[in-house]
Amino acid sequence: MKEFTQKIDGVGYDGEGVCRVNGKVVFVPYALDGEEVRFQIQQEKSSFAKGKLVEVLKKSDRRTTPPCPYFTHCGGCCYQHTDYQNELEIKKKLLQNQFRKTGYDGEISIHPSKSEYEYRNKIKLFVGKDGLSLKEKGNLCHIEKCMLVDDKINEVIKKIDKFIVKHPDVYNEVTIREENNQILVLFNKIKDEEVDYQGIFLVLGKNCGIYESFQDFAIYQMGIKELSCEEMGITCHFSPKSFHQVNKFLYQELYSEAIDNIIGEKVINCYSGAGVLSGVISKTKEVVGIELGLNEHSDAERLKEENSLTNLTNLHGDCAELLSGLAACDTLITDPPRKGMSKEVIEGINQLACKRIIYISCDSATMVRDISRLTGYKITKVSLYDMFARTGEYETLAVLDRV
Ligand SMILES: C[S@@+](CC[C@H](N)C(=O)[O-])C[C@H]1O[C@@H](n2cnc3c(N)ncnc32)[C@H](O)[C@@H]1O
Repeated sequence: MKEFTQKIDGVGYDGEGVCRVNGKVVFVPYALDGEEVRFQIQQEKSSFAKGKLVEVLKKSDRRTTPPCPYFTHCGGCCYQHTDYQNELEIKKKLLQNQFRKTGYDGEISIHPSKSEYEYRNKIKLFVGKDGLSLKEKGNLCHIEKCMLVDDKINEVIKKIDKFIVKHPDVYNEVTIREENNQILVLFNKIKDEEVDYQGIFLVLGKNCGIYESFQDFAIYQMGIKELSCEEMGITCHFSPKSFHQVNKFLYQELYSEAIDNIIGEKVINCYSGAGVLSGVISKTKEVVGIELGLNEHSDAERLKEENSLTNLTNLHGDCAELLSGLAACDTLITDPPRKGMSKEVIEGINQLACKRIIYISCDSATMVRDISRLTGYKITKVSLYDMFARTGEYETLAVLDRV
């Protein structure tokens, strides 16, 4: 394969180095701005190409030695080759570029993860012939641990790895979640074969719960039934498939900023998940949460009841259908999945014409697209929360006020 030598003079959306060959943009993963690198062209499209780094000829002083042996092989992290401060600066620059498309050129405040590693409370692993694995471009990479997850999850990975190889071809995925020293494991089966979990349950210990899913339903097997904890003064429970923010060090700071920016007494919380944020807000405001997932909705209803939150209404259904039936509120919070909001939801929000919108998202591209479709608002605040440190992702909170 032909090799090229170039100076990197930009950064791509996943932190890749960017340069040009014969006028065409080339993205070179793991190359840093200012470095001189040797690379091969791995994939060529009409408007850009993807390079494979062969050698760094002139190193950036922001380059560091990646601490994880699976870095570049597992498809997870993309910033372990640089210091954390540089990662934050790169992410800020990328977010600034996104928000310029909306005309916003103001300050973006940065909220780093309190720890760059061991912050995740959840991992989804694939099952390969060698055991539990992560995936990079379709290739499985067997791992013994992941530096991004809590150590308690890594202990579980080691134990389940031994169990899973004894059941070849039965599973394709295993999800492990941790909260407050409790562990939930969800084994996803691809073969309807009966498995006795007693042995692995004894190895994992009594603070663990085992579920099995086959064709999408999570079926309880043994141990604890859900993850239970106190969060921001609220008692919560998370069932195995129920959404929860993954960075245990940072999500409360994100929620606090959302709460601090609420105006008025009536709040609508779209895509409200298991109801933690709605629950905290409803201690002082009237809140209507809308959530499509049945697991999340059930957890949110339980949270309402256990915490006696009489100001909270949890609606179960699609924001696209339910928003139109609601009366206007003072503040509307929206936290959609990465694909962003549908045209119907945006239309519904435009019709409600609330005084303030607080938009939270893990995908700044769809977020900026949606914001440009909201009419009658101007962006007054943007914050970056590094919820997914060392990876190409981050969370953004934007405040939009009616003009
Ligand atoms: C990014 S999560 C945010 C959850 C919550 N705000 C939190 O902080 O835990 C997005 C949530 O939106 C829900 N969801 C996805 N599509 C939806 C829709 N069309 N209407 C309502 N909820 C939806 C998902 O089930 C998920 O719980």
